[in-house]
Amino acid sequence: MQRSFIVLLCLGFAYATLQNYTVDDSSPDIQYSGKTFPCNITTCPPEATNGASNNSTTLTTGSITFSFTGTAIYASLDLIGTCSITVDGDQIANLSQTSTEALAGGLPDISKSDLANGPHTLVIDPTTVLTIIGLDHLIYTAILPGKSHVGAIVGGVIGGLVLTFGVLFVALLARRRKLIMRRNQRKNAVLRGITSARPDNKAAVDDGTNLPT
Ligand SMILES: *[C@@H]1O[C@H](CO)[C@@H](O)[C@H](O)[C@H]1NC(C)=O
Ligand SMILES: *[C@@H]1O[C@H](CO)[C@@H](O)[C@H](O)[C@H]1NC(C)=O
Ligand SMILES: *[C@@H]1O[C@H](CO)[C@@H](O)[C@H](O)[C@H]1NC(C)=O
Ligand SMILES: *[C@@H]1O[C@H](CO)[C@@H](O)[C@H](O)[C@H]1NC(C)=O
Ligand SMILES: *[C@@H]1O[C@H](CO)[C@@H](O)[C@H](O)[C@H]1NC(C)=O
Repeated sequence: MQRSFIVLLCLGFAYATLQNYTVDDSSPDIQYSGKTFPCNITTCPPEATNGASNNSTTLTTGSITFSFTGTAIYASLDLIGTCSITVDGDQIANLSQTSTEALAGGLPDISKSDLANGPHTLVIDPTTVLTIIGLDHLIYTAILPGKSHVGAIVGGVIGGLVLTFGVLFVALLARRRKLIMRRNQRKNAVLRGITSARPDNKAAVDDGTNLPT
């Protein structure tokens, strides 16, 4: 009973599906503290926007803040200068890049996964003056609403039912055993009474013919 309960509980958790959400640099959910320059196909040469998500990148000299609810965050950005990246105040990257390096290849994506599922805040902060940060897009991983809840609830309810039935079953079994034991005890007491009352005091099968008178 307990084992099936655990299996059902695991099934409930397996239903929780992770989903990636892309947030583009122009999203109003991203806060820019300083000056921004939207680099897109109308404001920048194609070489600057090609390959960027939605063909756009936001350039800024200030900090970038993004709050999300989930378990992971990925940042696709470019940089000339230095910047510090934190999640909930803990530094996840300390970057430095020259313009030559930026032209040569750029930065790999910054990521922080295995966060506790819940609200988190990503901050990308320039650490030196004259630093320019170019944000292409962010991706955060969240637990898919609906499916996961249904899975967890169904798992929980079934698990709960199994547990309840298990407890009831065990209780019934215990009660039955107790009743049988009590009945046997009573039977034994009667038998003992009968045997001790016999004149020869010998235990024998009571066939009703040699009862004491
Ligand atoms: C989300 O995106 C990141 C980066 O592209 C990837 O490593 C990760 O496996 C993705 N997660 C899901 C659940 O799709
Ligand atoms: C490029 O950015 C400017 C300024 O935000 C905006 O007015 C324009 O519509 C954008 N162009 C495209 C193609 O997104
Ligand atoms: C980005 O621009 C290229 C041309 O430079 C175009 O072929 C492509 O469809 C654009 N992509 C988006 C998402 O706008
Ligand atoms: C960027 O592209 C995504 C699809 O990849 C779309 O959902 C979104 O509306 C676009 N954002 C802008 C600002 O064009
Ligand atoms: C980040 O890097 C800069 C140099 O690029 C250094 O001065 C600073 O101490 C570093 N900060 C941390 C917390 O590692």
